[in-house]
Order: sequence, then structure tokens, then C-alpha cells
Amino acid sequence: MQWKALALALLVERGAGQAMPMLRFQCSQLVVDRLDPLVNPGVVPSPHLHQIVGGNSFNASMDPKTHDLPSSSTCTSCTFSEDFSNYWTAVLYFRARNGTYKRVPQFVSEGLRADGGITVYYIPSPTEKEKVTAFKPGFRMLVGDATARAPSAARKVCHRCMPATGDNSNINCGAPDSQFLPKHDVPRRHPVDHMSHVAYPNSSYNDVMVGAYGTCPKSHPVKIPQVMYEVMWNTQMFNDKALWPEDGSQPFVWSTDDKSGYSQHGDYVFGWKDDSLQRAMDARCNGAVCGELEIQSSESAMKCTKSRTVQEDIDGWLTEIPGMDMRK
Ligand SMILES: *[C@@H]1O[C@H](CO)[C@@H](O)[C@H](O)[C@H]1NC(C)=O
Ligand SMILES: *[C@@H]1O[C@H](CO)[C@@H](O)[C@H](O)[C@H]1NC(C)=O
Ligand SMILES: *[C@@H]1O[C@H](CO)[C@@H](O)[C@H](O)[C@H]1NC(C)=O
Repeated sequence: MQWKALALALLVERGAGQAMPMLRFQCSQLVVDRLDPLVNPGVVPSPHLHQIVGGNSFNASMDPKTHDLPSSSTCTSCTFSEDFSNYWTAVLYFRARNGTYKRVPQFVSEGLRADGGITVYYIPSPTEKEKVTAFKPGFRMLVGDATARAPSAARKVCHRCMPATGDNSNINCGAPDSQFLPKHDVPRRHPVDHMSHVAYPNSSYNDVMVGAYGTCPKSHPVKIPQVMYEVMWNTQMFNDKALWPEDGSQPFVWSTDDKSGYSQHGDYVFGWKDDSLQRAMDARCNGAVCGELEIQSSESAMKCTKSRTVQEDIDGWLTEIPGMDMRK
């Protein structure tokens, strides 16, 4: 059994299997740390663990006015080597029958190589004549809510149980994907919300399938790239049912101390060098190779890591998920 979590927008396919162009690339793990420069800027430690990928200038503060990601970074864990952006999500724990927790290891998305990490997609406008406007320095956004314990209307963060054969179906966040953490036998409280400056078009995934791509609301007229994250967890080492809770309930818990699943979220700080993202979007680049962009090998990307700022055990059998004391 594997889990895949998808965040931040929809993956769309045009008509009869003709894929829409979209950048798709891997960012290896930079660090797993208890930092969150968007929701808890300057707070060390922040309330829960994240896996962070991208440029190595990531830190607890990242003041949008002064922190220039491309010039402050000396490397990036992404294969597009001009992308010094940072991307992060919550990490997953397994809660054993005896009440202790173990961090769930990650898989790499199909066809890619990396140490854990996040597969990132940037999706331009579905039609060639409508250009998207790439983000500007200082831009950041997030999707989801770490405090949520109930479904959200937006359906932009979801989970999928992957078959052993792999899975490339483009049903992202449509059934059977779920906002909750699936069980199988095998109110916004942020001071700055980082959300209201962006909006979704009026189309759903199903509308897109019939060729209705949606329109930007008048309040948010600038069409920007859609950004999607994909993270895969390898839950196989926890298949032994003797380890599961005696009532058979699903045993996985986000680092937000949430076993419902609704609290998963994705954070983004834009950090592409110069106009590289705009050029890639204008060229409607597809996949992990783009004539407009410089590429580094997965091996070089994997060398870009950061040591943890918050020193604590995150990988043993733990009696508490890191940060649980802050949530009591
Ligand atoms: C974060 O990085 C910026 C730019 O390198 C630096 O000015 C700032 O002091 C750093 N903040 C922390 C908390 O390390
Ligand atoms: C709890 O169970 C796990 C899995 O069997 C085991 O590795 C760990 O040592 C146990 N911890 C305690 C405190 O019994
Ligand atoms: C979105 O809004 C536009 C303009 O009001 C409308 O023409 C279009 O049909 C809507 N699309 C969907 C999928 O609702």
C-alpha cells in the first residue's frame, strides 16, 4: 500500500488522452524541519514538521521584502537548476498499537530519481492564445489548513491509495481520491492568510474534461500558472496488522497531529531566477525537459541539502509527534 497526496490545483488532460503541457519535475528533500516561514515567520520551532524542498536559502524568517531566493541560495534540490523556490508539506507518521509513532518513509514519483522529495507541476493556460503571468519575486501562497479537521469545499488537497502497479490516472481530487486519509485493509487562523490573493477558476476537473476550462473571477483577473505537488509515502513496512490499533482504525497521522487527513497543506515561496519560469510557461514546456531551462542531474540535486535548525528526534519510535507539546 502506498499513499500519494496531491495538492494545489488540478492535473488536467485534454479530450481523448491528449495531455496538456505541464512542467513536471522532481525536487529532492532539502530538509525535514519544524519551520514555517509563511504561517509562523521567525518562530523556531514552529508547531509541526514539514518536508521542505528547493533552494537552500530556506529559513525560519524569509522576509518577502528582503529575502531574494535566487541570490541567497547556493544550490537547489530541484532538477530545474534555476528554480530556487521552496515547496513544503506536512510529513506522515504511523501510530502503532502501543501508542508510539514512526515517521513513514517516502517513495519517489514514477520515472524520477530523488531522495524523497516532492514532484512539482506548473501548468500553463490550457489554450495557447491565453498566456499565464509567472509569479513575481516575493510571491508566496498556500493551500489547505493545518488546523482543519473537516472537509473543505475547495477539494484541492487529497489522498490516493496507489496500486502496486503504479498509477498515472488523471483523476486528481476526483473520486476515489479523498480529502481524508483513506482507511483500507492493506476557521482560518493565520495572521496573513497567503490565500486570498489567489483564486481558482470557475471550472472543476470534470468541466475541464469536457473542454470548459473556466474563467478567472473579476477580483483576480491575472491568470497565473497552476502549481501542483505530488508526494508519495511508502507504507509497506507498516502492513503488519498486529501493529495497527486494535479497533482496526487507520493508523496514519499527519505531523499536524491529525489522523483525519484534512489538515494536509502545501506552501509555496516563488524563487525562480530572472524570467526563467515565464519563458518556460510561454514555451508551453512539457515534462522534465525544457529547452528554455537549465537542468542539473538528480545526483546534483540530491546533494543540495540543509542541516536541521531544530534539533530533535524525528525518526525513532517516538512517544509524541514533534511539536505535540506546543499543541496541548
Ligand atoms: C534568513 O536568510 C536571510 C537571507 O540570507 C537572512 O538575512 C536572515 O537573517 C535569515 N534568517 C534566519 C532566521 O536565519
Ligand atoms: C512499540 O511498537 C513498536 C513496533 O512494534 C516497537 O518498535 C517499539 O519499540 C514499541 N515501543 C514501546 C515503548 O513499546
Ligand atoms: C465560467 O464563467 C464564464 C464567464 O461567466 C462562463 O462563460 C463559463 O461558462 C463558466 N464556466 C464554468 C465551467 O462554469
